[in-house]
Amino acid sequence: MASDAVVSYPSINPERIPKHVAIIMDGNGRWAKQQGHMRIFGHKHGVNAVRNTLEFAAEIGIEYVTLYAFSTENWSRPEREINALMQLLVDTIEKELPNLMKNNIRLKTIGNIHQLPARCARQLKETEEATANNNRTTLILALSYSGRWDIIEAVKKIATSAKNGDINIEDISEETLNKALNTAAYPNPDLLIRTSGEMRISNFLLWEIAYSEIHFTSVLWPDFRKEHFLQAVMDYQSRERRFGKTSEQLIPKEKGASEE
Ligand code: IPE
Ligand code: IPE
Ligand code: MG
Repeated sequence: MASDAVVSYPSINPERIPKHVAIIMDGNGRWAKQQGHMRIFGHKHGVNAVRNTLEFAAEIGIEYVTLYAFSTENWSRPEREINALMQLLVDTIEKELPNLMKNNIRLKTIGNIHQLPARCARQLKETEEATANNNRTTLILALSYSGRWDIIEAVKKIATSAKNGDINIEDISEETLNKALNTAAYPNPDLLIRTSGEMRISNFLLWEIAYSEIHFTSVLWPDFRKEHFLQAVMDYQSRERRFGKTSEQLIPKEKGASEE
């Protein structure tokens, strides 16, 4: 809520809190390697960063946080790493339920959840149900997710509707696709953060980030803390979001903006 943001983080403008922040949590493996450990050690420590991130989001009133936790392409990793990640997922969601309740956070998922081991899908469903009435922040976990996968699934749904005569091809619009995506219920991200210094999208939310502000940081995900999130929000607040317009069009007329 804006008032909390004012008190705890005076450098933040409470009028311009991003409504939806999406994060590509990257760098766990490199973090572990730097300390001479196996990659999974980094994933385990990544959970602390998730906890910090969610607490900060709830504190400053970010309504939606989407975390890229496992991509379609991540299925190509060694089986041992995949199994360890899936186990970590189940254990973490179970263990974190009290924190989700305490911070009034609702859990949702996007992605091909059926592809996950049954125990993961079950744990996710149970936690979604347990947190369904929480309304401070919505945590959307992207699991077995990729932007292209979601677009293909959406196209299949729309093509089926067209074939059945439920929609005219001429009536297909941005809205039609928005509604057919896994992300239909959420606004587009205002801010996209990627950690670890990589500057790519890696098949995340391709359709939804058309006008998101992007913040790259070299911090490896297990080291990501509230101070880094704060930096990202301040960076976001310093941007001018023009959505194709000119800068002058954005300045209120009474402040002397020209028409050109
Ligand atoms: C991100 O960290 C977590 C997942 C993709 C599951 P990585 O495991 O990609 O770590 P790096 O990028 O190899 O350091
Ligand atoms: C992106 O990270 C996927 C997640 C954070 C879940 P990757 O580490 O898989 O991305 P690439 O392969 O370096 O692009
Ligand atoms: Mg990576």
